[in-house]
Amino acid sequence: MTYTIAHITDLHIPSPQKFEQGDKNIKRMLGHLSWERNRKTKHLAKVLDALREDLKELDPDYICITGDQTNLGLHNEFVASEKWIDDLGVSEKRISVIPGNHDAYGPGFKQNFRKFWGKWMKSDDGVKEYPYIRRTGPVAIIGLSSAIRTLPFSAKGAISKEQFKRLEQVLKKIGEEELPRIILCHHPIQKGAAKRRKSLWFSKKIRNLLAKEGCELVLHGHNHKIHHDMIDGPNGSIPVLGAGSASYCSSGKKHTGHYQIIAVNDKDFKKSKIMHRHYDRDEGKYTKGETVSLYPQTEQPATKDEEIDA
Ligand SMILES: [Fe+2]
Ligand SMILES: [Fe+2]
Repeated sequence: MTYTIAHITDLHIPSPQKFEQGDKNIKRMLGHLSWERNRKTKHLAKVLDALREDLKELDPDYICITGDQTNLGLHNEFVASEKWIDDLGVSEKRISVIPGNHDAYGPGFKQNFRKFWGKWMKSDDGVKEYPYIRRTGPVAIIGLSSAIRTLPFSAKGAISKEQFKRLEQVLKKIGEEELPRIILCHHPIQKGAAKRRKSLWFSKKIRNLLAKEGCELVLHGHNHKIHHDMIDGPNGSIPVLGAGSASYCSSGKKHTGHYQIIAVNDKDFKKSKIMHRHYDRDEGKYTKGETVSLYPQTEQPATKDEEIDA
């Protein structure tokens, strides 16, 4: 049997009101300028419409959304992102959401996470704290938050000490249950995956923890590009997958919207596959991309691409 998990990220939902007049938040002002000058021509509602149609057609068993649902963390963007996810028409038990750095631009962001995305960010027992744990099909989803408020021009993330402690316990507990553990973290944890000003604080500590306790897969966003990296685990390497921004469409050839479906082999997780889906600018819809093994024979990054504003 195959259990399918769609990994979508960096929706950066285009929202009608991008900036509130009188807002003295410098980071937001700069973000607004960046949106108006550049990003609004590249993160398109029509690509997200096509994504929704593709997800409805393929009907994956589970959907993971790994942060940067918004651009400036504005109230109306939270409203729009909640509506977009609701409109997928999928039961809240079949969706997990974590926040990204763009979602933490404004004060009160933690309350907004809970208010608008709380139904998709809680553990099986209803507890709303990170990491949350959701057992679904043959796997357990472990949702972290690396979203912190940062200074202008910084897109860094961090896992709090409390989260780190709980993560250690959770990895042990789920490991004893012998369920494949899939960690969601907006920022990439692998070494050198993001430039310093966009990276995860103390990512080495996380890698050391995973090298000791293990997990079976890490899913991330943030870089707006495809990653298929491997990090050290206690019993061999652990795959770390990043996906492109699901709303992206530029006039250039390289970048269009992307997401991926993990086809989990419920008998042997190491035989699971990744099915890539790409937005086709000419057809105006998401189409089938490459299907590759989750545990490749040669362990090296799948792609290397130029930097995009994450
Ligand atoms: Fe990000
Ligand atoms: Fe992003």
